[in-house]
Amino acid sequence: MKPTHLQFTIKKNTLYTLLILLAFLLSTAADIWAGSMGHGRRNNSRAFQGHHGQGFLGKGICPQIRKTVQAPANIFSQRNPLKKDREVLYAGESLFQIEAQPTACKICHGVTGNGLGIMAQGLNPPPRNFTCRSTMETISDGQLFWIIRNGSPGTGMPAFKNLKDKEIWQIVHYLRKFSKQKH
Ligand code: HEC
Repeated sequence: MKPTHLQFTIKKNTLYTLLILLAFLLSTAADIWAGSMGHGRRNNSRAFQGHHGQGFLGKGICPQIRKTVQAPANIFSQRNPLKKDREVLYAGESLFQIEAQPTACKICHGVTGNGLGIMAQGLNPPPRNFTCRSTMETISDGQLFWIIRNGSPGTGMPAFKNLKDKEIWQIVHYLRKFSKQKH
């Protein structure tokens, strides 16, 4: 073999190696750019984390016409007694999204809290849109607590009698988050 030929072979191999490396780097960059694969979808948004369409996207109705019965004065004026921290919010989130019985809140109120859950269609009045700041500002902590515990008679909002007081207050902290986030 002539030295020149050998030189060319090395160069060609190096070139191939570099090309493969470049392709790898580009695909990695594209992966990072596209976002992580959560639940088989490339999207980081929480809205996509609901299984099988349990979270409909959109802003929801805002402001919302609200005819919900008002809690008794002494409960209406109550403020959330729990200190808001990560654990409280996490517990509230778990109840809202998964654990609350008979039905997790997200089924009606939506994974993003926009009131457009999978069971929201056909409900009149519609589920509360917790992302709607102008409406949520008019509803006190005690009122939220009262309706979660007792439901809203004559509407789709069920009573959650088996939730402990503490659990309801955890949910209330979590609900407040929806109208503080940017969408
Ligand atoms: C089967 C559907 C459904 C489920 C499940 C559901 N909701 Fe509702 N929710 C509604 C509807 C419908 C309304 C509107 C009622 C009304 O306008 O009076 C509502 C209203 C509310 C309100 C508004 C109270 C007010 O004074 O405006 C709160 C708070 C609430 N829901 C919290 C929850 C929480 C927390 C859960 C889970 C623990 C939950 N909901 C589960 C359907 C549902």
